[in-house]
Amino acid sequence: MEQRIGLLGCGTVGGGVIELMRRRKQRLQSLTGWEPIIARVLVRDVHKERSVSLAEDMLTNDPDVVLGDASIRIIIETIGGIEPARTFILEAIARGKHVITANKDLIALCGEEILEAADAAGVTVLYEAAVGGAIPLIRPLQESLTANAISDLKGIVNGTTNYILSKMTETGADFDEVLKEAQDLGYAESDPSSDVDGLDAARKLTILASIAFYTRVSLSDVEVTGIRKITARDIAYAHELGSVIKLLAVGTERDGALTLHVRPTLIPKSHPLAHVSGSYNALFVRGDAAGDLMFFGRGAGALPTASAVVGDAIEVLKTMRQPQNGGYAPHPRPHKPVDQERAESASH
Ligand code: NDP
Ligand code: HSE
Repeated sequence: MEQRIGLLGCGTVGGGVIELMRRRKQRLQSLTGWEPIIARVLVRDVHKERSVSLAEDMLTNDPDVVLGDASIRIIIETIGGIEPARTFILEAIARGKHVITANKDLIALCGEEILEAADAAGVTVLYEAAVGGAIPLIRPLQESLTANAISDLKGIVNGTTNYILSKMTETGADFDEVLKEAQDLGYAESDPSSDVDGLDAARKLTILASIAFYTRVSLSDVEVTGIRKITARDIAYAHELGSVIKLLAVGTERDGALTLHVRPTLIPKSHPLAHVSGSYNALFVRGDAAGDLMFFGRGAGALPTASAVVGDAIEVLKTMRQPQNGGYAPHPRPHKPVDQERAESASH
């Protein structure tokens, strides 16, 4: 049976989502019991050339065509930024649709409003792709590691700045030239100053810290310094000291007090984080029971990000399984109203 999905945005990430869903069509079906179909795609410019082929009647620049379609029960948001993404997501939730988003700006700033609206409406909102691209971070912190008191988060959570710093280190290239490469590769935000000035990493740290430290963290709690002032000379000095410069996001909890910062940091070449290069991200986590853990993988780009988005889509589709298909909810969370989902599925 078909499950119609509305995709908001079809740029780097949205295009990757369509491609990956096409590649994994059979698996999605056998895993979830549904045949997921991207039925409508909202963009700004319907005439623009896309990385994926789309039937003409799928594309629209009218949000009501997607959000007002009652047969669409899942919305995937890949527009980015706060507005209009926030309004679209809240409207989707109010209309009883599940939402998957890659939008860390929105989750960092309005996550509470969105998750509370989802609770009230009895729908699921998942955002694994918002932090660390392909690397599973949100669900491990929310679920597998939830029995731990986490004391430390430390890592590289922005692919664009890591790409820039790595290239400057490897080739001595100029900052602006390498930023342009990162933009062409689809790693940078539409306003790349978010990456360069450390805000993107700070938003991601806000999301991770809220989950890991089991508290409410806001962006203003994070002290932020970006990489704009790092010169080829700084990088050469770091090299002479046997180190590299990385933009690190750090969160520590000591005796109930949180310290959060994002800043360029000298890392000895012998340290594992010194070897995280290009668009790769890595996160070190210390839990009182688990001990030390390190997560590593591609932090940006079309397919790595789509990997996390489509993983979330599979999660949502599984919870929508009809009882006669063996319906179950594998990862119940407080904001995932499993019973209501089952009741809804049963009534179809
Ligand atoms: P892009 O700029 O490549 O794509 C944005 C898409 O949104 C475009 O298709 C654009 O339409 C559409 N869009 C923008 N504004 C509107 C609007 N007002 N109404 C309708 N459609 C609109 O962005 P990305 O794909 O790179 O990023 C999308 C999201 O994913 C962001 O939240 C980003 O932070 C996040 N993300 C990105 C990663 C990456 O590696 N790029 C990795 C992880 C998360 P049109 O094409 O017509 O201009
Ligand atoms: N602009 C972001 C980055 C995309 O470079 O990490 C992934 O969130």
